[in-house]
Amino acid sequence: MSLNLGGNRIVVVGQGYVGLPLAMAAHGAGHNVVGIDTDERRVKQIQSGISPVSDVDSSVLASALEGGRYSIQSDYETLAGFASAIITVPTPLKDGKPNLQFIESAAASLSPHITPGSLIVLESTTYPGTTEELLVPILESGGNLVAGIDFHVGYSPERIDPGNTEWNLLNTPKITSGINGASASAVAELYTGFGIAVVPLSGTREAELTKLLENTFRHVNIALVNELAMFSSQLGVNIWEAIDAASTKPFGFMKFLPGPGVGGHCLPVDPSYLSWSIKEKAGASFRFVELANTVNSFMPNFVVEKIQDLLEEQGSALKGSKILLGGLSYKARTGDTRESPALVIAELLESQGADVYALDDYVTDYDWPTFIHHHELHSNDYDAGIVITPHDESVSATLVERCKVVLDTRNVVVAPNVRSL
Ligand SMILES: NC(=O)c1ccc[n+]([C@@H]2O[C@H](COP(=O)([O-])OP(=O)(O)OC[C@H]3O[C@@H](n4cnc5c(N)ncnc54)[C@H](O)[C@@H]3O)[C@@H](O)[C@H]2O)c1
Repeated sequence: MSLNLGGNRIVVVGQGYVGLPLAMAAHGAGHNVVGIDTDERRVKQIQSGISPVSDVDSSVLASALEGGRYSIQSDYETLAGFASAIITVPTPLKDGKPNLQFIESAAASLSPHITPGSLIVLESTTYPGTTEELLVPILESGGNLVAGIDFHVGYSPERIDPGNTEWNLLNTPKITSGINGASASAVAELYTGFGIAVVPLSGTREAELTKLLENTFRHVNIALVNELAMFSSQLGVNIWEAIDAASTKPFGFMKFLPGPGVGGHCLPVDPSYLSWSIKEKAGASFRFVELANTVNSFMPNFVVEKIQDLLEEQGSALKGSKILLGGLSYKARTGDTRESPALVIAELLESQGADVYALDDYVTDYDWPTFIHHHELHSNDYDAGIVITPHDESVSATLVERCKVVLDTRNVVVAPNVRSL
């Protein structure tokens, strides 16, 4: 079986943080690209040339739309004869368990449009076995074609780091795999054609585990420094200085920094896919993940306790105070508020009677929670501020200027009214 190049038409299912940059990369490599997204609102926004994700510039999107080689739609009706389809739909948790309904529905919708030689690649983060045990049977259900014989199937996890100005989709090596040798070659060929260096693995399970290992490694190491940060004042040490010093060792140490908690689609979710899978297949607890979840999810409470202490030192209390949050998104230079610790902190503060304000130019009104007020430009009477997302220096500078006391959870600012985590 050879690869169906059906007009080089590449379908990217899901046009979010992962799918839209990927669609632009495929377009940039000269392919005809169809983006599919079931969220009509997102489709309309993209059709109007406004990028919903910070890693894709609106001008790049608009010129791809104008050139006619990229389009986006919400239905699967016109896909017959596609060459390759890449699935980048969400893989959230539901009641602490993997929720694969988006992969299932995307696969069921693609299935009737598969033709001999088609290639289907799953990119969504998931537990080992998903591609072969869940995806393949659904893809085969729409006709008489057999995966691995009539069409190719593979797994290639996305590694993008939104907001990272050094490492992006095109210069980060990509793990590739397939359900057999021919599928593995087809997947590697697809991404090589986008100009991405590939790291081919022997099977899809290894590729699925690689992604979970990468994110669990981060989660556990962040938990290590977060737990240390919670004890550093009792120990009377500056943890930030110790971490910087340890980082001067050229081998055997990797720098991770404490913070207000972990957020986004990955760290609060992916490690639980791994621990769930281990529980299912081995009947055992994956204790590292459970401990890391406990430590990292406690950080917003620790931040609020710290703010309470700082307010008490000044003779005031949380109830009735005005608190300004510096940043709402979960990481610098993105507007992504999913699972952001800032939102948990805001809820905790609000539930204890504080009036919560925030300053974050990256977060759109659509994602801005209604109970959080926008920073008042001319106000200088905040009781306390919290540096949460280190977008740029101007955010922390505003907090230093406008708040009586500032808790810096990122160690980015030094001033007489600033205390670090
Ligand atoms: N955001 C990241 O930094 C990142 C990095 C690496 C991997 N991932 C993984 O990539 C996957 C996608 O994440 P994301 O951040 O791009 O999510 P996202 O929510 O930004 O985008 C996913 C899109 O898929 C659409 N969708 C859902 N079901 C669909 C269907 N059946 N057909 C068509 N479209 C559908 C949604 O409407 C949404 O717009 C997840 O598994 C995630 O864990 C994310």
